Amino acid sequence: MSLTEMAYTNEFHHQRTQDNSCVARTISYLIHMKLSTLVFILIILLISIPLMMHYYVSQILAHQGQVAQKSHPLVTSMSLHSDSSSAHMKSRIDEMNRIKNSVSNELMQLEAKRNKLHQSIETYSSRIDELKQNLARLQLEYERLKYSVEQARATQREAAERDTPLLAMPRPLQPELGPRAPLPPPAAADARHCSLADCWDYSRCPLTGGFTFFLYRLEASGDADASRLHEALRSNAQWRPEAARVCAFVLVLGGATTPAELRRQGELADALRAGAVPVLLGEWPLPLDGPLDWRRAVLRVAEPRLPELHYLLRTLTDADILSYRRNGREFWEHYLSSAKAVADAVLTQFAERLELPPPPALGVKAGSAFNDTFQRLTVDVQLSSLDLDEYLGPIESPLASDRFQRNFTTPRLDTYARWNLFLAPHRLYPAVPYGDVLPAEAKFVGPRLGFRPVASGEGGSGKEFSEALGGNSPHEQFTVVMLTYRREQVLMSALGHLYGLPYLNKVVVVWNAPESPSDTLQWPSVGVPVEVVTVGKNSLNNRFLPFENIETDAILSIDDDAHLRHDEIVFGFRVWREQRDRLVGFPGRYNAWDTKHGGWHYNSNYSCEPSMVLTGAAFFHKYYAHMYSEWMPQVIRDKVDEYMNCEDIAMNFLISHLTRQPPVKVTSRWTFRCPGCPMTLSEDEEHFTERHKCINFFSRVYGHMPLLNTQFRVDSVLFKTRLPPDKQKCFRFI
Ligand SMILES: *[C@@H]1O[C@H](CO)[C@@H](O)[C@H](O)[C@H]1NC(C)=O
Ligand SMILES: *[C@@H]1O[C@H](CO)[C@@H](O)[C@H](O)[C@H]1NC(C)=O
Ligand SMILES: *[C@@H]1O[C@H](CO)[C@@H](O)[C@H](O)[C@H]1NC(C)=O
Repeated sequence: MSLTEMAYTNEFHHQRTQDNSCVARTISYLIHMKLSTLVFILIILLISIPLMMHYYVSQILAHQGQVAQKSHPLVTSMSLHSDSSSAHMKSRIDEMNRIKNSVSNELMQLEAKRNKLHQSIETYSSRIDELKQNLARLQLEYERLKYSVEQARATQREAAERDTPLLAMPRPLQPELGPRAPLPPPAAADARHCSLADCWDYSRCPLTGGFTFFLYRLEASGDADASRLHEALRSNAQWRPEAARVCAFVLVLGGATTPAELRRQGELADALRAGAVPVLLGEWPLPLDGPLDWRRAVLRVAEPRLPELHYLLRTLTDADILSYRRNGREFWEHYLSSAKAVADAVLTQFAERLELPPPPALGVKAGSAFNDTFQRLTVDVQLSSLDLDEYLGPIESPLASDRFQRNFTTPRLDTYARWNLFLAPHRLYPAVPYGDVLPAEAKFVGPRLGFRPVASGEGGSGKEFSEALGGNSPHEQFTVVMLTYRREQVLMSALGHLYGLPYLNKVVVVWNAPESPSDTLQWPSVGVPVEVVTVGKNSLNNRFLPFENIETDAILSIDDDAHLRHDEIVFGFRVWREQRDRLVGFPGRYNAWDTKHGGWHYNSNYSCEPSMVLTGAAFFHKYYAHMYSEWMPQVIRDKVDEYMNCEDIAMNFLISHLTRQPPVKVTSRWTFRCPGCPMTLSEDEEHFTERHKCINFFSRVYGHMPLLNTQFRVDSVLFKTRLPPDKQKCFRFI
């Protein structure tokens, strides 16, 4: 231990000794203090403590009085009283509660105000959104109107430029009436040299009058064939009961031009009916040899080639034989099979020699489902947001397709096709799905009329494409035909969906229910006429009647529950314009072969090889409505009525039979709802069984299975193409 440390320890020790001695001194002082002194100190304490307390309490009260803004007079004097203190505390608590309530009330009011403000902010912002949407909609509609105005201008320009007005039929020339000297009969020796121009009285057959004839009474010869032919002629639409104003006088002679005679010509009819290929040796005259191209049905061989015939026949392929058989069978069926077929063919051929068109195929005049006094309730609709997404084409003024433009060229230019391919020469149709298109220059030089080339001919991608119809044929519109039966609300919603659909000309609703539409129905204003027609009889065949109300070549047949989007419809229409003789539709179906039992089955499973498209959503030419209703064998329409089913199958059969082409399946998005698809399983089974039966029955009627398979689907050109950002697809989704 160092010296310093020793010194420190000593000092510490010394201090502790000092403290101890001080406490001891105080205690000893208290012990030795006098009692009087203690009492004195106590008195002083007793006086000074209350005084000090009084002072502090009055200080607190004064402070409290300031807070409460109110002083209590008693507080001072009763400062020490416990009762008054608790009352005071109570009042304080009440006070505090009051304050608390008032503050919380105020808070609640503030909260309510805040909510209100919040709500109005929300209202305003939703209103802003709404206005923005409205603005966008109006802008779109403005854009659309602009294009529509451009279209209207083009139409106006065309109307002004058109220097050859469409001809209407002039009033028919009147034949010379009254007593006139009969033409002297040609001398027997001259008869051979009598040409039509010399010997025929053309003044009775003006071009504008059509072909008509008067029928002499039949000599009572007892010839059954002659009388059947006579009857058939009388039932022809061109027969007139009075002799005064007819073009031709017809006398049926037993045994001369009767089917019996035709049959005697080798004949031929039996072979054709049996579906055999007739082989003719030598130049035999064949019936209707002018218009009918017998080379399609009969194998003619010159007699000297008889030794080579064996070799020739062995070169025929199956397809050749089938073509001969099919054509022969059709010639027989359409022109030779019955007295009526023969009468019609002979008359049409003769009218053609006189350069006269056959009688027109008239549309079906349907009554309106409303009476004259009835006022429909209408309701405005708006484009659904789905269809507002995309600009698909201008809304134009109604444009009917040209009708009966080729009254005199049809019987000349189209003779071959009408007799041999389309097998319908006896009627003049308002328009036909075949024929030539003009060369591309025609859109720009030359007739120019009616074409709407994309970007006035410069072409382009989606934007320009959506503004014009383009294509190889003049612009046109289509008619929606919708069959409905007791589903008024479904119909109303389906009609509403058609609002704003570009290129739509008109909607024809075929009202199949016996009762009239209820008068409380609110009909959506579609923007085009909605004509509700009724034909009295509830039949699915009504879907395909060639109504006079339909003024366009293109018909979109659509079920009231098939929700096609506008882009799908417009695309389908554009596809149809390039395939005018085909059925162009959305959902595909096919006919499958029953490998166990033989025979056909209808199949609606997914397939890469459909052979039908459902007519619940399909485009076809109005010509086929005529063919379905007037040309197709009646037994097929009867079967459709019997099952209340299969009308779509019948239409597929008809068009495939006539064109030997499968239908065209166009794209469809998954939004397509299956129309006519049955809801329950039992319905399902019955529905399918009927469809199996229909397919087998129809193919027996046609004598073969006309349906053909197709392995591709049509999408728009730039679908799935990667585009630079300044280019648009033809359609956004298809
Ligand atoms: C063509 O025939 C139809 C039907 O008969 C008729 O309405 C139309 O006026 C005719 N047109 C011309 C130019 O002859
Ligand atoms: C027309 O139809 C309406 C509704 O169907 C009916 O109330 C009215 O009596 C009919 N008027 C005539 C003249 O038939
Ligand atoms: C459709 O396909 C399903 C699944 O492959 C199959 O079970 C069914 O039998 C098919 N239906 C017909 C009618 O072929």
